[in-house]
Amino acid sequence: MADKRRFDLLADLLVSRFPETKRVFDVAGGMGKLNEALVARGRSCLTFDRRHKHLPVEYALRDFTLDEPCTADLVVGLHADGATRVIIEYAAKHSVPFAVVPCCSDNSMPYKPWMRHLAELGTSLGLTVEEVELPMEGRSRVLLGRRGT
Ligand SMILES: C[S@@+](CC[C@H](N)C(=O)[O-])C[C@H]1O[C@@H](n2cnc3c(N)ncnc32)[C@H](O)[C@@H]1O
Repeated sequence: MADKRRFDLLADLLVSRFPETKRVFDVAGGMGKLNEALVARGRSCLTFDRRHKHLPVEYALRDFTLDEPCTADLVVGLHADGATRVIIEYAAKHSVPFAVVPCCSDNSMPYKPWMRHLAELGTSLGLTVEEVELPMEGRSRVLLGRRGT
């Protein structure tokens, strides 16, 4: 069972680490709870997912792909499963920062190698990647990436 505090904890981390951010893409956002938490903190947010039942937040009812036009200055995935890799590729393509809290891999890779693989992917695409941990149960490690140091 994923920790219910994850949305507020991640929103607080994002606001403190990326204070200049105005608009966030919340990829694989499920119900839209991270969106709600970010809006409560003064950010605008668009959630991408395929859930017809979701909160009344700004919501794109579709899969997120590399072809999505970029109108965000931060792209985020909280337990985004199969969308995690594309978030990092998208951030590199558009030179915007990313934050992912990986959970399940898209290729059956176990958690620790999956984390390593994602960090290496970001680095190989020219991003500086660091890891922080949220104070919560379950998959709590966050990868943050951006251009430059
Ligand atoms: C484990 S859920 C996490 C949902 C939410 N972020 C949370 O923490 O409660 C993973 C979500 O990823 C979505 N998903 C997977 N691939 C996606 C993609 N390419 N674009 C958008 N959503 C995707 C699924 O529909 C599902 O809602």
